[in-house]
Amino acid sequence: MLTGRNVVLGVSGGVAAYKAAYLARRLVERGADVRVVMTESAAEFVGPATFAAITGVHPVVDLFDDEDVSPHTTLARWADLIVVAPATASTLSKIAHGDASNALVATVVASTAPVVVAPAMHTEMWEHPATGENIQTLRGFGYTLVEPDAGDLAGGDVGVGRLASPDDIADVVQDALIGGDLTATSVVITAGGTREPIDPVRYIGNRSSGKMGNALAVEAARRGADVTLVTTAPAPNHPGITVVPVETADEMADAVWHIADETQIAIMAAAVADFRPADPETRKLVRSDGPPDLVLEPTPDVLAGFRERAPEATLVGFAAQVGDLSGVEDKAERKRVDLLVANDVSRPGTGFGSDDNEVTLVFHDGVTKALPIMSKRDVAKVVIDTVVELRS
Ligand SMILES: Cc1cc2nc3c(=O)[nH]c(=O)nc-3n(C[C@H](O)[C@H](O)[C@H](O)COP(=O)(O)O)c2cc1C
Repeated sequence: MLTGRNVVLGVSGGVAAYKAAYLARRLVERGADVRVVMTESAAEFVGPATFAAITGVHPVVDLFDDEDVSPHTTLARWADLIVVAPATASTLSKIAHGDASNALVATVVASTAPVVVAPAMHTEMWEHPATGENIQTLRGFGYTLVEPDAGDLAGGDVGVGRLASPDDIADVVQDALIGGDLTATSVVITAGGTREPIDPVRYIGNRSSGKMGNALAVEAARRGADVTLVTTAPAPNHPGITVVPVETADEMADAVWHIADETQIAIMAAAVADFRPADPETRKLVRSDGPPDLVLEPTPDVLAGFRERAPEATLVGFAAQVGDLSGVEDKAERKRVDLLVANDVSRPGTGFGSDDNEVTLVFHDGVTKALPIMSKRDVAKVVIDTVVELRS
């Protein structure tokens, strides 16, 4: 929680300014003292009275028309952290160039507190090279960027540029202020189902959606870890997560093994194919060829290969079972993992593709702990809590 923490929320003038009111509310709910500084454009989109009602203090809008003779330096010194959300293209540029010509940018430039920036704008503005350069400059200052999501934008457009959700921004603020029990810990997580080519357009795959691996990656990153997410699936957006996109078991093994010796925790949540076509066609098969004779060969064992390369790392495996989970007790020892997370993927409402999961934790010594059905986000919390306990 953020009790006793001083957060300055800088609001600039985009449509997403109304979401800053939700963010202010979330931060207050978490116990933070929140003061708002907004640009004149932001005040066109959402009234200062809204923020005054949520935070209990009138926002600063005009540097020269405030009770405080120097509101920017007062806020700058008061802040334990400044979060700019939404950050317009114009505000990003002003901050990057130290152009302190309004109360918001003057506050950022006058402060030594950590800064979190959550941009929001139309896709074309986001992809403009000037915006890209300004983002790089802000990263160079050590600021934390909460990248925009893809989705519906103002005026019926769709694309990258939508403000990240207020909850996600509040999480990043909290993590930046408090740090976590995995701070400076390197974690590799695999997610999604591998695709083993039959020909250039077809593959042998499975139903894994990557949701469980994504939830684990976000939870670990929230708690301060440097996460490498090796995945076949769309990945979440978090400054603590580096995404390595892969397709096949071979590529997944290469990516994971390459960083094994610098990894402290590995969580293998991907559904990796056990077999692949031994001799994939280089041209697209056509119906007139008749059905192909598919000869399969084993894929590399990503988990076993990791353990060989990183004997000291904490290793968590996932076991997707079909039917009951009897017989998993000795699997943790056989697989040389510290923790095995077993689930029955054939059950409706849990497992592949769903938002919930019902898992059994199997420890190295064969002890098992069945958990009730819960969201994958909550399963991720329990798994990461268990890993932290195992390591202590
Ligand atoms: C309806 C409308 C919506 C806008 N939305 C955005 C936006 O989402 N992101 C952005 O960077 N600029 C947006 N702009 C442009 C900014 O309001 C404009 O660049 C302004 O000068 C930003 O000032 P500020 O950064 O000082 O708040 C929008 C303008 C209008 C009229």
